[in-house]
Amino acid sequence: MNPERKNHPEEPAEGRRTFMRRLWMILGIVALAELLWFILSLLKPSRETHKSRPADTLRVIGSVEEFPAGSVTPDRVNRLYIVREQDGGFLALSLTCPHLGCSVLWNEESRQFDCPCHSSAFDRRGMVLSSPAPRPLDYLPVIIQEGKVKVDMGSITKRKRFEPNQITYAL
Ligand code: FES
Repeated sequence: MNPERKNHPEEPAEGRRTFMRRLWMILGIVALAELLWFILSLLKPSRETHKSRPADTLRVIGSVEEFPAGSVTPDRVNRLYIVREQDGGFLALSLTCPHLGCSVLWNEESRQFDCPCHSSAFDRRGMVLSSPAPRPLDYLPVIIQEGKVKVDMGSITKRKRFEPNQITYAL
């Protein structure tokens, strides 16, 4: 075999093979790095998880003293009413009518919520006084922390009736 014939024609082929081997090695390293990054991102707690935590859905509505006993206070920004019981307890009610979604209005004279759209009415705890509303006003959990009234906006709850455990008291 002629050594010149062996070296010259095969050198470019050998060079191409080496180049391809290196290219595949680099691509393999990149793919491995991406796989590692993906696995690490799965293990790390995501921002979505934090968003869904109840603490992140709490809204400060006001100080405890801002809500006198027996009062019903609208919060149009958060679309709710804060009802303060005579004994000091707090109840937060959605101002969205469960019939077709109009905003109910508190009537101080009749001491009830009236829906201007189809005349449903609700008592001060949100129970239906007159239809067509199919259920009571939805309620939201209230939390009292350091003298502040906070409402968990992420836990709006449909209900069939008023239950005493829907009322929150300041400790
Ligand atoms: S939307 Fe309130 S009664 Fe229809």
